Amino acid sequence: MVRIGAFFVGLFFAGWLLISFLFGAYSYVTEPPAKTVEHEFHLAPKHVSFSFDGPFGRYDRQQLQRGFQVFKEVCSACHSLKFVAFRDLEGIGYNEAEVKAIAKQWALKTPDVDPATGEMSTRDPVPSDYFPKPFANNVAAAAANNNAIPPDLSLMTKARHHGSAYIYSLLTGYTDQAGYKNAKGQELLKEFPDAKTPDALHFNPYFANLNLAMAPPLAADDQVAYADGTKATVDQMAQDVAAFLTWTAEPKLENRRTAGLATIVFLLIATGLAYMSYQNIWADKKKAA
Ligand code: HEC
Repeated sequence: MVRIGAFFVGLFFAGWLLISFLFGAYSYVTEPPAKTVEHEFHLAPKHVSFSFDGPFGRYDRQQLQRGFQVFKEVCSACHSLKFVAFRDLEGIGYNEAEVKAIAKQWALKTPDVDPATGEMSTRDPVPSDYFPKPFANNVAAAAANNNAIPPDLSLMTKARHHGSAYIYSLLTGYTDQAGYKNAKGQELLKEFPDAKTPDALHFNPYFANLNLAMAPPLAADDQVAYADGTKATVDQMAQDVAAFLTWTAEPKLENRRTAGLATIVFLLIATGLAYMSYQNIWADKKKAA
């Protein structure tokens, strides 16, 4: 009796599920969800290759130093790097004296307290300091940037899908909205007249909602002068700073890969040994059979 009851209850729920699925499918076909401008026009990051791609990839120290230079001369005016200390720069190939000099000459100062009066003051950063923030607080940051707060970039490449390629694409992806076409060849504004980029925002199809408050930070070739003689095209600077920000988010990437490789080699040898001892242990039993 109870069984039959349970059967009907089950049948009821299964039927309910089937009917709601059928209705859902029917209304999806007859009234497909409205297209959104983001869905239609947002682009996945461009394909770009980095020296650290793949399981054997390594950072290119020269590139990281160039990327650091771009961060220092361009991005640090607005973006903080709060999880990185000056002494961490030894990881991209600077020696102790160079790090000391970089910290001392940094344009932004480190907040401090005057030991005599207790008043707030500032001083030159030292290697153990983290990069000073460009704005005192979020209110000041938003006020200076058209109400958008420039996010901290320390972990940005981890916070976005295909982070390194995303940063590169974002920096090189600004384009003219009026002439922008997607793969289907439709013009954005014809199809979505409401999507016009508001004044003071900038159109960029790699940004999730297509319009962002950051003006193109890398606008012209030779915006920085590279010490190693590399030509500073916008494309090159974008790749270099993307590589640098990949390093800030994962400075131990190379150690992790070396350890992983050593582990795999160890496991392979251990597997071989285990197999040989298995053969050894069962050798006489097999003969008897
Ligand atoms: C004049 C100030 C300014 C400069 C210089 C600047 N940015 Fe920005 N950046 C912003 C602001 C403001 C935002 C927030 C935009 C928004 O949310 O609409 C932002 C956002 C970003 C984002 C986040 C995008 C996202 O997906 O949320 C990244 C990445 C970024 N900037 C990278 C850089 C890099 C790299 C540089 C240097 C080459 C740089 N920015 C230089 C102001 C700046």
